[in-house]
Amino acid sequence: MLICNSLTQLQHALGTLSKNYERAFVPTMGALHPGHISLVKIALERTPNVVVSIFVNPTQFNNPDDLRRYPRTVEADCRLLEEAGAAVVFIPSAQEVYPNEDTRVFNLDGLDLYGEGPRRPGHFNGVVQVVTRLFDIVDPDCAFFGEKDFQQLAIIRHMSAKLGYRTEITGCPTLRESDGLAMSSRNMLLTPEHRKAAPHIYRTLIKAVEIFSQSDRYSPQELSDLVRSEINSETLLRCEYVEIINSLTLRPLTEWADAKNIRIYVAVYAGEIRLIDNIKLK
Ligand code: PAF
Repeated sequence: MLICNSLTQLQHALGTLSKNYERAFVPTMGALHPGHISLVKIALERTPNVVVSIFVNPTQFNNPDDLRRYPRTVEADCRLLEEAGAAVVFIPSAQEVYPNEDTRVFNLDGLDLYGEGPRRPGHFNGVVQVVTRLFDIVDPDCAFFGEKDFQQLAIIRHMSAKLGYRTEITGCPTLRESDGLAMSSRNMLLTPEHRKAAPHIYRTLIKAVEIFSQSDRYSPQELSDLVRSEINSETLLRCEYVEIINSLTLRPLTEWADAKNIRIYVAVYAGEIRLIDNIKLK
């Protein structure tokens, strides 16, 4: 596995990859867990030429404390990637990624109006800045993103097609701990008490799926209210929002009949740490 810190090193490493296979790309912010490694494994099913980036992108953090606290475990990350079979790891500095300040403002066509968008102003614009920048650098045939960040995946898929990138975007299932907590780099920041309380989020989402499949007694608004109060019944958790959305337009539903593809998104504070999760209802 080749480890590169600069664009020059990366260009050289990319040149050593076999031309007979596609180039796959897994962008990450490091602090890797089995969820990230599953993306690498899915990419490896398609091609041995798997390039992974580790870059904590400052432009997507709307909260400076979140950026400062974001876990950084580069050495362990490299060991995991080597073991998984990645071909190249790109670990650039901010100067390499953004030699000039990135002032691009993207029209996200309304996909950021709900969910994480209004709660994290500028977040998705920053994600699109870094992903397009990395696509320009790596020029991948295909790229892999987790469904835990469902809205991010939908926005990247939309924007990459809209901006004319040739890269095929693949969404990969959320990996969970054995108690159901969605794997996330932020989980390692939880106190033991909050870590114990956090699986209540997924249990509640499962309950919502059961309720939805058994009866249409609840409107989307009533089901979201139910999910919110159930999450808040665990005193160590504080639900920031619940939204039941049309998974194609990413807009909230008022009537079940308004969509064929439906998801519930939640964001929940466990102490200082903000966790997100989502599940398919239909
Ligand atoms: O999901 C993430 O880890 C990041 O948002 C991404 C896609 C690597 C961009 O920085």
